[in-house]
Amino acid sequence: MLHGRKILLIVSGSVAAFKALMLVRLLRAEGATVRAVLTAGGARFVTRESLAAITGEHVSDDLWAAESEIGHIRLARWADAVVVAPASASRLAQMAQGLAGDLAGCVLLATRAPVLAAPAMNPAMWAHPATEANVALLAARGVRFVGPGEGAMAEPESGPGRLAEPEEMAAAIRALFAEGPLQGKHVLVTAGPTQEPIDPVRYISNRSSGRQGYAIAAALAALGARVTLVSGPVVLAAPPGVAVKRVESARDMLAACEAALPADAAIFAAAVADWRVAQEAGQKMKKEPGADAPTLTMALNPDILATVAKHAVRPRLVIGFAAETENVVEHARQKLARKGCDWIVANDVSGDVFGGGENTVHLVSASGVEDWPKMPKEEVAAKLAARVAEFFE
Ligand code: CTP
Repeated sequence: MLHGRKILLIVSGSVAAFKALMLVRLLRAEGATVRAVLTAGGARFVTRESLAAITGEHVSDDLWAAESEIGHIRLARWADAVVVAPASASRLAQMAQGLAGDLAGCVLLATRAPVLAAPAMNPAMWAHPATEANVALLAARGVRFVGPGEGAMAEPESGPGRLAEPEEMAAAIRALFAEGPLQGKHVLVTAGPTQEPIDPVRYISNRSSGRQGYAIAAALAALGARVTLVSGPVVLAAPPGVAVKRVESARDMLAACEAALPADAAIFAAAVADWRVAQEAGQKMKKEPGADAPTLTMALNPDILATVAKHAVRPRLVIGFAAETENVVEHARQKLARKGCDWIVANDVSGDVFGGGENTVHLVSASGVEDWPKMPKEEVAAKLAARVAEFFE
């Protein structure tokens, strides 16, 4: 599927850089030509010689030497896609700032090809607001992301930060070339439950599995869309080629959605908690012997769908979900008007939809109602993605 594609791989400094070598093998096995640029940081972890041997090409690592050989502009133009793997925290910051102090920075500024970044860093560095802001800025400019995942890291720490596996990176590179009707469109999707903290150890949440939203994100990506998936806590893996922003509370989900704008379409499949605890306790609430059970005072959460539907940079197509147990279509119609969205996917949740594999939905819009038969969530997703593509045709 990558036959004849020219991929420029930028290897920056991370202990995970060895996976870049495995990625090159996968890409070449699919018929791609891979040229590598090794940054000074990257050269601390893999050698120029090993990259040259595995790519079968000359490896560029020095801006000034490169000028005499091929030149950063020609290198940037040569590439059908630029892949930064691993992308260190420092490299992401340089990309966000547009710094061109080395060959990799010059190529990244000069290229007009799609750019994919595979971040790899310590979980605390990934979670830092500076990194978050850099990633949001790059995503808004069209840079795609794959990973990071969770799992064993060099340090005995857990949390996201681990470089995506070579197979995942290869899938995300294939997705860059996916020629579909949604090519060039950015779609925002929310999925999963939210968790509303009571104190540092307790929260209020719901049974949403996130499966429907994740399936929608995957279906949109398969049609060529650039997808930002804002996800509450779920146990699902990021769909190939989809940038996932993980959040916990409704307020965090809203902030992540606003940061992801502008988008051409937005689909709100998350089961957002309607209320949060008004005053989150700073310390774990203790049960005092003989004392009454506490009363929790709730506050209304922001409505993410309604906020985006009224946003200054409103996506052209805004789609909400409605979970109903009775009068499904009538309630959906009211919700359409109240929330200011274009379509509602009305979900009949009188069965075992939460966590289940199937869904019975009705697509409600100003122009009418379509009743879809009961089908697997993946099929609901594919049908909805196809409808979104038709809308933009
Ligand atoms: N939604 C949201 N932010 C909220 C609440 C809901 O974005 N704070 C979105 C959901 O993602 C979904 C739609 O709004 O797309 C659901 O609307 P909601 O008002 O929560 O209705 P239901 O959950 O269907 O139920 P009810 O009408 O009983 O409140």
